Amino acid sequence: MKVFVTGGAGYIGSHTLIALLAAGHEVCVFDNYSNGSPVALARVRQLSNCDMEVVEGDICDEEALARAVADFAPDAVIHFAGLKAVGESNDIPLRYYRTNVTGSMNLLGAMDAAGCGRIVFSSSATVYGEAQYLPFDEVHPVAPTNPYGRTKAMAEQVIRDWTLTTPGASAVLLRYFNPVGAHESGRIGEDPQGIPNNLMPFVAQVAVGRRERLSIFGDDYDTRDGTGERDYIHVVDLAAAHLAALEFSGGVEGCEAINVGTGTSITVRELVDAYARACGRPIPFDIVPRRPGDVASSYAATDKAERLLGWKPKFDLDAMCLSSWRWQSDNPDGFPLAK
Ligand code: NAD
Ligand code: UFG
Repeated sequence: MKVFVTGGAGYIGSHTLIALLAAGHEVCVFDNYSNGSPVALARVRQLSNCDMEVVEGDICDEEALARAVADFAPDAVIHFAGLKAVGESNDIPLRYYRTNVTGSMNLLGAMDAAGCGRIVFSSSATVYGEAQYLPFDEVHPVAPTNPYGRTKAMAEQVIRDWTLTTPGASAVLLRYFNPVGAHESGRIGEDPQGIPNNLMPFVAQVAVGRRERLSIFGDDYDTRDGTGERDYIHVVDLAAAHLAALEFSGGVEGCEAINVGTGTSITVRELVDAYARACGRPIPFDIVPRRPGDVASSYAATDKAERLLGWKPKFDLDAMCLSSWRWQSDNPDGFPLAK
């Protein structure tokens, strides 16, 4: 199948490319490298021993995107490109709406023009907002509490309405929980710019000596050890979920939102302990006040993914930490700037 992949040079995109190429799909990546690296794509080529088309471009550039989609004439699209930092979305909301909502609308328009009616979209568990109950299932109310989450909820709505009016169209909205880890080779992984916002990349940078100590945001939550609980999912499992979603989208019409998590909650302290085991050194930390906007617990109901996609995660927390550590220790400063 011909698959057009926006944001393929990023963290989740690059891991999904490996899975797509291994499955024999023909791929075209569309990325503006604002948070992705051409080096990641070069390494994907090496690891998979396959080539792919790459177009450097911005999903906000409606014409360039339409041209790239028309030229490639895809059977399906996986849409990763977007901005993803919750804190930043509070500071520059318009940029988030433009990229995540208008960019997604540009993509659907380009697909319409090229006669492509199949999309897998990167959504987020953040669309649920405060938990009214746990685990989050897909019928939990969608009530995001920050601009980033609202852009994802809006893009979901736009895609859903598009499927309602486009004969034969099918969309899978994958609501990721907390993607972590790296490809087993240690050649590709998460390479955050500046100070990492997320726990595992921060811990990885402490482990490798780039940062001195982790700050744990609160130990007075109503959880097993007082620290926040999340549902961490190995990025390689997440990549496999995209392949399963792609396959599923071929046989159906309409729009399905599907959680991608493990269904297991891990506390910050548990993750730090597992990482220390994986890297063989202690992770120094301080307990600091809660981060505003954080919830105590978030984890997924996973039965819909299993039922519709026939997909289940394979990797546990130790595998997530080991793979992250391999990537971080082999690439202490992330991807090199030059190819
Ligand atoms: P990432 O930043 O590593 O990858 C995004 C890619 O999109 C990058 O290569 C970037 O250069 C590209 N991009 C950004 N803006 C673009 C634009 N205007 N035009 C073209 N390309 C553009 O992020 P990721 O972690 O791989 O996340 C991929 C998707 O999954 C995002 O949409 C994100 O919101 C969503 N998501 C991520 C997480 C997570 O924790 N990583 C959780 C839930 C959802
Ligand atoms: N944490 C720390 N110290 C840090 C970073 C995080 O203690 O330096 C804690 C947080 O308080 C939280 C846990 O680690 O309890 C996880 O925090 P992350 O920032 O890694 O993840 P979040 O669950 O807050 O958010 C992430 C992404 C969102 C996405 C959401 C989906 O940042 O974009 O997962 O569930 F929407």
